[in-house]
This record gives sequence, C-alpha cells and structure tokens, in this order.
Amino acid sequence: MSLRRMLRGKVSEEELLRVRRSFEIVGDVVIINLPDEILHLKNLIVDAILKKHKHVKTVLRKVGEVNGVYRVAKYEVIHGGKTETMAKEHGCRFLLDPMKVYYSIRLSGERERITRLVKPGERILVMFAGVGPFAIVIAKHARPKEVVGVELNPAAVEYFRRNVEVNKVENVRVYEGDVRRIVPKLEGEFDRILMPSPHNAESFVDVAAAKAKEGGYIHYYTFAGVEEEKELPGRVENLFREEGVECRAEFMRACGNFAPYVNRYVIDLKVVKRLSG
Ligand SMILES: C[S@@+](CC[C@H](N)C(=O)[O-])C[C@H]1O[C@@H](n2cnc3c(N)ncnc32)[C@H](O)[C@@H]1O
Repeated sequence: MSLRRMLRGKVSEEELLRVRRSFEIVGDVVIINLPDEILHLKNLIVDAILKKHKHVKTVLRKVGEVNGVYRVAKYEVIHGGKTETMAKEHGCRFLLDPMKVYYSIRLSGERERITRLVKPGERILVMFAGVGPFAIVIAKHARPKEVVGVELNPAAVEYFRRNVEVNKVENVRVYEGDVRRIVPKLEGEFDRILMPSPHNAESFVDVAAAKAKEGGYIHYYTFAGVEEEKELPGRVENLFREEGVECRAEFMRACGNFAPYVNRYVIDLKVVKRLSG
C-alpha cells in the first residue's frame, strides 16, 4: 500500500521522502507512521486514505513503539473515534482494539505456514496467544485434537474468548495468566508449541521444554541482527539442550522486520529427545 504514490504531486518531493511508504489496515482502522516534521500533512494524508479505502472509519497515528509486557504500541486518533475493529484473516474474524492489545496482520503469512504443518490429531500449545489468531486459524483450517492458548493481558483474553465464539471453533481452550504459572499446570505434553514472543522467548525456554513431546515441534520466535543469522539455529538448539531437551533446527526464516538490519526470525525445532540427568 503506497502512501507516497497517493500523495505524489500534492506535497513537495522533500516532504514525500519523509512519508513512510506503507500503512497497516486492521479491519476499518488504518495505522500510519507520521513523523512530527510532516504532521501538517495530516489532513491530506487522511483524505487520500479515505478516498482509496472507502470502508475505513478510523485513522490512528503511531506515537510510541510496541512496548511493555502486553506489547501494545501507543496511538493517537487522527480521524474518527471508534478504535475497536474486526480484522479479517484466512477466513477468520478477529475482534480487537489496537489501543489495548497486540495484533499484526503482518504475521498472517506465518499463521498460514504453521497451519499447513499441523497434522490431524495434534495437541498444540500457543504461548503468548494474544487475541487468538494463531490458535484460531489453526483450529479452523487444520484438524488438531486441541489448541490451548495462554495470554496474560486481560483485554486480549476477553477478545480471544469472543473470537473463539465468532469463529465457531470448538477445540480451542483459553487460559488467562502468565505462561510461567499456567503452563506447568497443564496436563500432559504437546505435539507442537508456539512461542510468538520474540523480545523475550529466551526467558521461557524452560517452560516450553518441560511440555514438549519427543518427535514434536517448537516454533521459536526471536529478534536478531542479520549478522547473527548463521549462528542463530545453533544458539537456540543450545538453549533447549540446557533445559534438558535435544532439538534440531529444521527450518529458519525472517518473518518481519524490527529495525534496520534486525529481523523477527522463526526457528522450527524438531524435538529429538529428552536428555536424562
Ligand atoms: C507479540 S504478542 C503476540 C500475540 C499473538 N500471538 C499474535 O500473534 O497476535 C505477545 C503477547 O504475549 C502476551 N504476554 C506477555 N507476557 C506473557 C506471559 N508471561 N504469559 C502469557 N502471555 C504473555 C502479551 O500480552 C501479548 O499479547
């Protein structure tokens, strides 16, 4: 989605260079990056967006990066008022408010990729489940026995529960609370564990390791510099080995950009065996 193209001819070339190329559409809410130096172009930009995307009701300007335990960015409403919206992804619908919860359409490709890997009858754990996109897309399109989602932010949990109903998925169980407190109490082991918390997944390796089934998979997300790419799979394998589980990194890819030369990576780990002692 090119904001620059929409504004070409209406603002100076210098101003145009300061406009970020893309913006995010979440249901009928648009999220844009608008640096202070071009704040005076606000109305022009909002008009251009509304003209091109007639369903849009609210435009948010990002004023603070994703932060805090709940991983929510700060936004200012620059058009409209209602910030709760319904995002659509892979035939599923997700009710959410970006002012209160994390959600990114940019991870939808990952959702699809993981869903294709799921085999019928798997028991799946989604740590850091948010409003439920991984859990619900998997439950809707694969044939898992059960998907368990754990999320700390009460607002996200509320949306997650509603999204389970909206999408009519029956085999999803939602738990509210800290992964570290909830997961050890869950019964049995899991065929597949997702850890979509790239800024601090490392602190939860022990929790995942204790619940991973031999022969199963762990999808580990982390931020890393491009220069670390080569050593990353081995480093993650070591983290799990230290927690008593031998894993083999079978696949890795960048699935998002965090900062210049810093990406979000996913590493698919096959759980080879539990190490004794
Ligand atoms: C990066 S978001 C990912 C959300 C979701 N998986 C998605 O893709 O939209 C990380 C989520 O983990 C939650 N979280 C942070 N610490 C947690 C913890 N200790 N236990 C459970 N959830 C936690 C945050 O509230 C946030 O919703």
